[in-house]
Amino acid sequence: MEEWTFVHVTDIHVGSPDSFRFAPAWNENWKTARSQIIAADPDFLLVGGDVARDGLLHRSELEQIKADLDSLPFPYHVIPGNMDIGNKYTDIAGPRRDDPSLNVTEKGLAQFESIFGPLWWSFDHKNIRFSGLSDIAINSGLPQEARLWRWVEDQNVRPHAARHVWLSHHAPFIDSPDEPNFNIAEPGQYHDWYFGIDEPGRGRLLESFKLTRANIVLSGHIHCRHKQKFDAIEYYKGPSTAFSQWGDRWPEGDDTLGFQRFDVSGSQIRQSFVPLTQFSSSTGYGPGGHPRPST
Ligand SMILES: [Fe+2]
Repeated sequence: MEEWTFVHVTDIHVGSPDSFRFAPAWNENWKTARSQIIAADPDFLLVGGDVARDGLLHRSELEQIKADLDSLPFPYHVIPGNMDIGNKYTDIAGPRRDDPSLNVTEKGLAQFESIFGPLWWSFDHKNIRFSGLSDIAINSGLPQEARLWRWVEDQNVRPHAARHVWLSHHAPFIDSPDEPNFNIAEPGQYHDWYFGIDEPGRGRLLESFKLTRANIVLSGHIHCRHKQKFDAIEYYKGPSTAFSQWGDRWPEGDDTLGFQRFDVSGSQIRQSFVPLTQFSSSTGYGPGGHPRPST
């Protein structure tokens, strides 16, 4: 039986020394990950968003990482992250920043689409269906959200594939599919709010996972690896290659830098974690956090 491999890498955060802020370590870590992924010889690569450090602010960063990905010796399929197009929608400020000013915009989504192509896609490869979407449009009320749901409805009624892998940037949920929305204004809940998808869009997406017989859902954004299983669907929260985050959220969470490799044999999909072989300690410059587009 033929065995084959696909790789999920996310939150690579590749930046530019021309920017007002730059973390060369993240670029160097991507170089390391890139050669390790090439060595794994996958049929293709899934890229889970946050491809750039400041893609929303610097179109050139998106263009540069696209050229880099285009030169890989296998195809890749990408969805945007919040540093590429803007944050998930809110009309309430969090305890530490003016979150509504960082909301995803029609323009941010359109910019990413103009460089990388469709914001949602689905393809079949050797009897497995792979579907990815720009989940950040969910609950935004933007014109792209209406388009997104029309596409999702279309997926719901297609003939099923033998196996189905979905890809989002935000985690569909933090601890449980039926958890209530977290309160952005509550300091102890801010990160839980920030990393997941809110209702009502979450339930609609989860319903689509069921209707399309999803087996695996991959996400990024958190930068901490954590596997959960609900209703026969395996949810893999993925690690970053750039920097670690939220390693203390779950006892079994692991924020070691690296990527996830999936080896397929027949109907079996076997996941393994590939840590980076080296971690850059180069120092950079500029502020952290989320500068507004006007800064
Ligand atoms: Fe990220």
